[in-house]
Amino acid sequence: MAEIYFDHVSKSFIYGLKRQTVLQDLTLEVMQGEIFGFLGPNGAGKSTSINIALDFIRPDSGMVRIRGESSNEAKSRRHIGYMPEQPRVYEQLTPRELLEFGGLTSGMSYGNIREQSEYLLEKLELLPFIDRPVRTFSKGMKQRVGLAQAMIHDPEILILDEPMSGLDPLGRMLIARLILEAREKGKTIFFSTHILNDVEMLCDRIGVLHKGRLLYCGAIQGFQKDFKTLEEAFVKEITDRTAGEKA
Ligand SMILES: Nc1ncnc2c1ncn2[C@@H]1O[C@H](COP(=O)(O)OP(=O)(O)OP(=O)(O)O)[C@@H](O)[C@H]1O
Ligand SMILES: [Mg+2]
Repeated sequence: MAEIYFDHVSKSFIYGLKRQTVLQDLTLEVMQGEIFGFLGPNGAGKSTSINIALDFIRPDSGMVRIRGESSNEAKSRRHIGYMPEQPRVYEQLTPRELLEFGGLTSGMSYGNIREQSEYLLEKLELLPFIDRPVRTFSKGMKQRVGLAQAMIHDPEILILDEPMSGLDPLGRMLIARLILEAREKGKTIFFSTHILNDVEMLCDRIGVLHKGRLLYCGAIQGFQKDFKTLEEAFVKEITDRTAGEKA
């Protein structure tokens, strides 16, 4: 059974007098223990898909199942650790307090929270700042706190919306290591990104979304074909598609 199953999901938004189709019949399975990269140009519908999986918004048709449970059910989110595109936290709080808050809302014991906080903050090189208010942090540091929050309850499934954006190569490496370690523990990771180097380094499979349609789903090699890099293949595929649509 898939850990995350997008089952014929369609979504349109009405803005002003216009209706815009944002997702068209998206069907996609993310399997247990894999790192799945969700790619697509700006506006392709990646965040919308993720928001549907977390039940922040509802699809017009189709559904998402998390470990077999409808994403409409609150209990489906017990298994999920989620990091939004722009993590927003109570900035007057410190990482210790934020993780305690997150851990308690997930029903963890204080001992467990302390252990997991120290593990995550150490891995993310934030341990020296555990008692400093987040408002004093740089963007990259805030981003890393966002990931620690997503992982505090040691979830089985991580859904990360552009976890690497805005990070320097070192910060990306720290996050990449945590993601790889999570996979070693059998966790499932589904993340959207534009940083194709990271995708090459991390992902077992990718899904490529363009204008709300899934263009490709499978191993990186199948999409990259004879191109030297995934980036080249991506740019070619998307520019060809866009040119084809205009013609
Ligand atoms: N609440 C909304 N109301 C109207 N249109 C929306 C809304 N949310 C998203 N959209 C539209 O849906 C489309 C897909 O947006 P989405 O944020 O899912 O893209 P994305 O693939 O995550 O892009 P990016 O890479 O820039 O994060 C865009 O055209 C966007 O304008
Ligand atoms: Mg997005």
